[in-house]
Amino acid sequence: MKLYAIFGNPVAHSISPKMHNYLFQKLGFDGCYTKIVVEDGAKLKERFFDLSLKGINITVPHKEWAYKLADEVYGIAKEVEAVNTWYEKNGKIYAYNTDAPGFYESIKEYAFENILILGAGGTAKAIALYLKEKGYNPHILNRSAGRLQFFKERGFICYTWDEFEQEKYDLIINTTSAGLKDEALPAPQKILKPLMQEAKYAVDVIYNKLTPFLALARELGLTYKDGTQMLLYQGILAFEIFTDFSFNKEEITRVAKEALTL
Ligand SMILES: NC(=O)c1ccc[n+]([C@@H]2O[C@H](COP(=O)([O-])OP(=O)(O)OC[C@H]3O[C@@H](n4cnc5c(N)ncnc54)[C@H](OP(=O)(O)O)[C@@H]3O)[C@@H](O)[C@H]2O)c1
Repeated sequence: MKLYAIFGNPVAHSISPKMHNYLFQKLGFDGCYTKIVVEDGAKLKERFFDLSLKGINITVPHKEWAYKLADEVYGIAKEVEAVNTWYEKNGKIYAYNTDAPGFYESIKEYAFENILILGAGGTAKAIALYLKEKGYNPHILNRSAGRLQFFKERGFICYTWDEFEQEKYDLIINTTSAGLKDEALPAPQKILKPLMQEAKYAVDVIYNKLTPFLALARELGLTYKDGTQMLLYQGILAFEIFTDFSFNKEEITRVAKEALTL
């Protein structure tokens, strides 16, 4: 049997084990996926090999460590400098970022041009760089200046709350953790409300919750979604990697969707 896990701190809330174990079972793959709390990111590799794992997902706060410790990094993860998926082959660790393409898959059905990303953390980096690769030019709005440096260096238009100048955006994406464990909006209401009154779509990366951001979107009549589909699609991409692309993607997608309704 091949063993898989999610490494992070905390991981108790994660529904990745449910999705991957259901996929293993339904698709007849001899695998098992569990949750492991890892406190020290520098020990990711040691823990991975000690437990004889074949693959892992890496979540908050270790995605940067996972990037640094991998032997080979593929795709957008190289630019983002953060990874959420490891796969072991011949004693080497191959690393990927499936968050960004997973997110993109979840918004493909929308028709938009101008995008505002709220937040400037790891998830914002992944989404912003991926959207740029797809030909968009998202603007970034963050509470404080520090994390904006990464985006400025890569040519993004960036604002803190204090310096924000309103423009019209079709799509507003919340990548902050505001609303995850509190009832906070990701930006002050006096900035957010006029922006959302002009927007068409609001997407939150937080899943399984109507955050205050999404509640405002609903109140203002926008089309909105939470991060469940992002989770689904990043998981499907990770599953393909974990099983060395041995299954048909449509089949994985069908079964993974089923898993999330359990
Ligand atoms: N659906 C999925 O599959 C999926 C995948 C990945 C991540 N996520 C979610 O994405 C979220 C962000 O994760 P991350 O790793 O990118 O976090 P992170 O690197 O820690 O970044 C957090 C960002 O949120 C901002 N922020 C935090 N609290 C805020 C508040 N009360 N008001 C306004 N801004 C606030 C921070 O601003 P400052 O710079 O000012 O501190 C920073 O820009 C988490 O909720 C995570 O669960 C979901």
